[in-house]
Amino acid sequence: MQLVFFTQDPYRAGKVEQAVADQGWGLVTAIAQSRPQEWLRLRTADVIILDLDVPDALGLVERFARSYPAVPLLALAGPDKLVDLQQALLVGAVAFVLFPFDARQLVAAVQGVLRQSGIRVAVGAGKVSSLVAVTGLKGGVGRTTVATNLAVTLATRHPDDVILVEAHGGLSDAALLLNIRPQRTLASLGGELRLDTDVIQGHLKSHSSSLRVLAAPTSLSLRVDIPPETWRSVLVLLKGMASYVIVDTGATPDAVLSEVLMASSDILVLAIPDMPALRASVSLYETLRRDPGINAPLHLVLNREGISGGVSTKSVNNRFGYDVDAVLVDDPSLTMYAANRGEPFVLTHPRALLSRQLGLLADRLALGAGGSEQAAAAAADPTKAGGTSTAPAAKRKGILSLRKQTA
Ligand SMILES: Nc1ncnc2c1ncn2[C@@H]1O[C@H](COP(=O)(O)OP(=O)(O)OP(=O)(O)O)[C@@H](O)[C@H]1O
Ligand SMILES: [Mg+2]
Repeated sequence: MQLVFFTQDPYRAGKVEQAVADQGWGLVTAIAQSRPQEWLRLRTADVIILDLDVPDALGLVERFARSYPAVPLLALAGPDKLVDLQQALLVGAVAFVLFPFDARQLVAAVQGVLRQSGIRVAVGAGKVSSLVAVTGLKGGVGRTTVATNLAVTLATRHPDDVILVEAHGGLSDAALLLNIRPQRTLASLGGELRLDTDVIQGHLKSHSSSLRVLAAPTSLSLRVDIPPETWRSVLVLLKGMASYVIVDTGATPDAVLSEVLMASSDILVLAIPDMPALRASVSLYETLRRDPGINAPLHLVLNREGISGGVSTKSVNNRFGYDVDAVLVDDPSLTMYAANRGEPFVLTHPRALLSRQLGLLADRLALGAGGSEQAAAAAADPTKAGGTSTAPAAKRKGILSLRKQTA
């Protein structure tokens, strides 16, 4: 079941996305779309939700109702648009929902119009888009290596359905690891006045694995600061374009990281076995765990496990009071070989332990937040699949404190 939402407001877009996130419905959002009719002609929709704040909203309701009589249209209106709402119902909207809404109200309204129009909805049976943030508050802990190889692993399993995004202010390391030369990057995206799926699509560079990449700039002269609100819209749009969106992040707890974390459905907090990096990662993990604004499950991932002189996984568990959720072995020759050739090691060396560990992590993410204990245990230690995970439960609701600090 495919929903299409027209709005001017990225905040409302985010709220609609959150509200329907658990329903298994597809959602494509057109934010400030200048040519809504032409845009919709290229897409499929089972239900249209139209925010009455979009320009010429009533005219659009009428035209959509005439052009797509089989597609129910739900009008969304703030308290200042009650008169327009009445009019919208007269010219073609079949139902309405008032903003701000409770998630259940929106879901019930959509289910209501689907029932009226005879479309059957198998709740939870549709495609749910997953946005996985790969984080860590120290440089060089392996975010890009993990994000890139994880994304490629998923792309081989879900062809044309995975996007990798570099949501940081630095240069594109992913372009080097994948040996791609993106013509358009965040640098040109930052200059776009209007954002919609077509614009984002034009900025994605394809890799031979079918992975699509929204890359950071490849030279310092092109570096741009994309505002957090723009990132919010970009992430909402990206989630409508692929089942898996993997986000490589920066090492700074800034407003962009905050947007990424709030949009995430899973968060990997990467640590390496050295005390400063461990302390930073555990502190990030703890901050996010307590933060009522973070909805996504957190996974503490120990990268470079077994590095000479490093802290053991057991000591990490004991000293910090957290069980590591997954380990990734230290394999400097494999990662160096892959980085210098621009070939992801999960493709060139699929049997290497590191590649298999990433495969298990991908399995676990694909299973979703409620993935089986066995898969979780296997991801924690592929040599001991069948054990149990005692990782702390993830938090699910509220406001992001990182956002509060940096806003
Ligand atoms: N499991 C691993 N085994 C050995 N080396 C690794 C492993 N993971 C990453 N590395 C190496 O660590 C270095 C840093 O990795 P990477 O660039 O992925 O980290 P990052 O967190 O993205 O860094 P930055 O702060 O620059 O964004 C690279 O040389 C990479 O090859
Ligand atoms: Mg990096």
